Amino acid sequence: YLDHTGSTLYAKSQIDAYTADLQSHLYGNPHSGNPSSEHMADIVRGTVLNHFNVTNDQYDCVFTSGATGALRVLAENFEWTKGKSKFVYLEDNHTSVVGIREPVETQNSKSPFHLQNYDAVKVKEQKLNSTENLSQKDKRVGNIFAYPAQSNFSGTKYPLFWISEVKKGEAFNLSKLIKLCPGNPNSCNWYVLLDAAAYVSCSKLDLTEHPADFVCISFYKMFGFPTGLGCLLVRKSAAEMLTNKRYFGGGSPAGYLANCDFFKPRTVLHSRLEDGTISFLDIMALKHGFNFLNQVDKSMVRIQDHTFSLAQRLYRAMNMLKHHNGAEVVKIYSHTDYTDSQTQGAIITFNVNRADGSCIGFNHVLQLAASKNIHLRSGCFCNVGACVSMLNLTPENMKTIFQSGHSCGDHIDIVDGKPVGAIRASLGYMSSTRDVDSLVQFIKESFLQNNSLVHWVQEMFFTHENNLSAEVNDEVYYDARSSVSDSSKALTLEKIFLYPVKSCRAIEVSFRFWTLCETGLTHDRMWMIVNDYGVCLTQKRENLLALIQPSIDLEAGTLTLESESCGSVEVPLNADDRIDGSVDINVCESKVCGDRVSGYDCGEKVSKWLSEFLGYKCYLIRKNNETRFAKKRKEIENCSNQTLALTNGAQYLMLTSSSVKFLQEKINSQLSEDGSKLGFDEIVDRFRCNFLVSGCKAFEEESWSKIFIRNQANVVKFMCSGLSNRCSMICVDKTGQKGLEPLRTL
Ligand SMILES: Cc1ncc(COP(=O)(O)O)c(C=O)c1O
Repeated sequence: YLDHTGSTLYAKSQIDAYTADLQSHLYGNPHSGNPSSEHMADIVRGTVLNHFNVTNDQYDCVFTSGATGALRVLAENFEWTKGKSKFVYLEDNHTSVVGIREPVETQNSKSPFHLQNYDAVKVKEQKLNSTENLSQKDKRVGNIFAYPAQSNFSGTKYPLFWISEVKKGEAFNLSKLIKLCPGNPNSCNWYVLLDAAAYVSCSKLDLTEHPADFVCISFYKMFGFPTGLGCLLVRKSAAEMLTNKRYFGGGSPAGYLANCDFFKPRTVLHSRLEDGTISFLDIMALKHGFNFLNQVDKSMVRIQDHTFSLAQRLYRAMNMLKHHNGAEVVKIYSHTDYTDSQTQGAIITFNVNRADGSCIGFNHVLQLAASKNIHLRSGCFCNVGACVSMLNLTPENMKTIFQSGHSCGDHIDIVDGKPVGAIRASLGYMSSTRDVDSLVQFIKESFLQNNSLVHWVQEMFFTHENNLSAEVNDEVYYDARSSVSDSSKALTLEKIFLYPVKSCRAIEVSFRFWTLCETGLTHDRMWMIVNDYGVCLTQKRENLLALIQPSIDLEAGTLTLESESCGSVEVPLNADDRIDGSVDINVCESKVCGDRVSGYDCGEKVSKWLSEFLGYKCYLIRKNNETRFAKKRKEIENCSNQTLALTNGAQYLMLTSSSVKFLQEKINSQLSEDGSKLGFDEIVDRFRCNFLVSGCKAFEEESWSKIFIRNQANVVKFMCSGLSNRCSMICVDKTGQKGLEPLRTL
């Protein structure tokens, strides 16, 4: 598990202690003022402050939904002075910090400053001039300087002494900025916002030594549980700036009237800012999180040393990986060379390169890693500023990508041959050398090109970008097996497959034709298996689905599921024949609930069969017949009304036998003598196409824009909506085993 900056892991003893606590105590709503819970939240506030070496005389702890929630509370409650307040932030900040500029902008109608990088912090002069001569009455103009204690992109630790320097008006790099507070440092109204979300999981933060005015934290990054809870730590002397409260709710007003515009906020800061009932049972869980952390290392020094030494080990091992021609396999993005735990945290961010220096898309690396059960994070990690500067991208590059409808970390990973994101490995206090070595071994096995791979035909590699810019090319005709009318572009439709149940085995159409309907091949991807939580199962998570063989009997109107261990079970094929009393249901097809699918439960008999086969409760859901509009495909011209079955991308998926043969040769040529070769049919099976087409060159299909399937009676026209995203499911074989191929070779 190498995604501790995403979320670290919780300990069993911590959860045991928490559940024992809940079972032996009664905790009621703190607002009710019952003795059982009235003071508990405040005791936990004290524990939080104590961890950061301050008391409630110095700081207040405002509970929020997380670090982002804390930043939002700050942005919305800070007393920005129209046209005068400044918000200055390092580019290497999380989105949640950068987002503060929006309320500032709307209130000030001025664009905020952003500082470009670590060594050369520059502030635009002309902007400074406009506010240099602050008059006495402007003294209370509040400004915020925001930076992360540790970058969540590269792990760079920014100096904590910046806090006092900014406040004293003496920061070396920031001196021009501080001129905004003229003369006497006491009149300085610069407040420092320290984003400590990534830093505090493995490092000590002493707020007495480094008294930042505002600090945001998410607790799951410190000890894994609970999620959805964080805090804004506010220095008492800065609390006077949080007076801009607009919305009130729950216990936050001291008084208000419903029939006239009267509202008086509470005076205690956390009571004023915490709208509604705080998440008091989760707050109880914090107690056990901090207890556990204290047992591991109260000082955090050993945790810092341990995680840093693992990061060093990973850094060195990755740097040593070289292709046969000496080219580096891993490109690491960092400001430091991992020699000092004061300037570098336990994060390694990298991309993987081929021997010719070209970059392998991070999605591909991530999927392959996932198939080996290695947890990493890829994309920009919600830190576009660091991503753009570390990867030498231009803001224009990124703008174009975003404007074309794509978002951070989606399937676009290479543009103009350059990566637009990276892969992050991050360590936590429970990480071990084994975690680190597994990643290095995986990279070696999967990407290191030795001499036998020199013959790779590099130009055959394609990127998603070609897909985006695909031009209208030939119209391609083919017919089902026999007669082909346009011989110059003659292709043959070799096989038709359908996959009635998402992620289960294919059915090969055994006679000449199969009916097409609005959502694709009739009965294709109309069923899915969901677990008790209503989550659709796929082979990515549940390899055993690869062992379920569906079959269709059109005359009898049945779908049969069969497995070696559990025999078979039948359900009606058509929605009109659904079992009486079966329940309508709305489920998410994908883990990101972009498209909700309305369907119905196919009944207890098949649910029992599936539950027995998989070993836990699950259900078969059939999609209703009414159409579903795909949100995902809006970007595709003329396809905004596309209707889908339970596919992820398009109604039909096509594969060419020449591309499969090419891939098969590559895979098998790299095998050792005793390695078992992958057969052609097996590869076809892994890609789960609907149409297998032959008669063209390998990868020629990438440039097709339209296809016509023509027989004597009619012609069906298809538009090519794009290339399928790579999916790690192609690594699962018919027996449900996960391997590295064919993803590794791709
Ligand atoms: C540095 C940093 N700041 C802020 C956040 C936002 O935290 P959350 O998503 O828990 O609100 C993160 C999350 O990864 C982070 O790494």
